Amino acid sequence: MADRQTPLIEVRHISKYFGNVIALNDVSMSVNVGEVMCLLGDNGAGKSTLIKVLSGVHKPSEGEYLVDGDVVDFDSPRDALNRGIATVYQDLAMIPLMSISRNFFLGSEPTTGWGPFRRFNIKFANQVTREEMARMGIDIRDTSQPVGTLSGGERQSVAIARAVYFGANVLILDEPTAALGVKQAGTVLRYIAQARAKGIGVIFITHNPHHAYAVGDRFTILKRGRTVGTFTKEELSREEMVRMMSGADELDALSHELEEFAREEADDQEMAKLDQQLAKTLEEEA
Ligand SMILES: Nc1ncnc2c1ncn2[C@@H]1O[C@H](COP(=O)(O)OP(=O)(O)OP(=O)(O)O)[C@@H](O)[C@H]1O
Ligand SMILES: [Mg+2]
Repeated sequence: MADRQTPLIEVRHISKYFGNVIALNDVSMSVNVGEVMCLLGDNGAGKSTLIKVLSGVHKPSEGEYLVDGDVVDFDSPRDALNRGIATVYQDLAMIPLMSISRNFFLGSEPTTGWGPFRRFNIKFANQVTREEMARMGIDIRDTSQPVGTLSGGERQSVAIARAVYFGANVLILDEPTAALGVKQAGTVLRYIAQARAKGIGVIFITHNPHHAYAVGDRFTILKRGRTVGTFTKEELSREEMVRMMSGADELDALSHELEEFAREEADDQEMAKLDQQLAKTLEEEA
């Protein structure tokens, strides 16, 4: 049995190959009870591949995957879900024209009646949806309103509330705040903190160092499929993380390049002026 010391999930020396592409190379990481683990790294670093291994979409090519200390071998996302590992993808699996409460219970519909008279229990679904959303501080006026009419942040919140309601121990969020404004991102971040307070382990992928630092307890940084390291908040200052994530060195190189462009452009303008002068002189001479 798992005790508080056993990580909720852990991978050891995981690699994942797609043909010749090495998407993950000897990656180890873990998530503990009541902890937010941020997964950081540039585009193509392997973040989504890693969470797809964790959520049962991909099988690792090498390495071990443990849940509550047991070695597991998931064949599908359903297997991961059965072990309490819920994933909220950026492109949410929701049906925009269906009601909020219908979406909340998508795939696990509560029913009422029996045999041919069995139908979706709307009353129960509406009540639970309203309660669960209120618990995260979102007041849904009308749960029969289509999910498509909610803002991006509210929709993310419905997806997270749903995972928590159905008993997730581990919540994996792939860039939930990427397309959100400041206020909506705040709503999602607050909810991540609430999930942690319930003892849920959260894996949070983001490109935004400020979002990561606001809720993260530990940070695992990936680079070209390898782990650069895992740092606690004490080990990594906000400034260091911002610098690491913004790729400050690359930005320096970029601004250099942009200056070159500007110079070339200035040269072009200079040439155009000379051309005009020449044309004028030729006209006058003619
Ligand atoms: N199904 C696949 N087949 C072939 N290559 C893949 C596949 N999935 C991912 N890759 C490759 O693995 C590498 C890691 O991709 P991944 O999507 O995990 O990156 P990421 O860190 O999530 O990037 P981003 O921040 O852009 O979402 C990339 O080079 C990608 O092209
Ligand atoms: Mg990705």
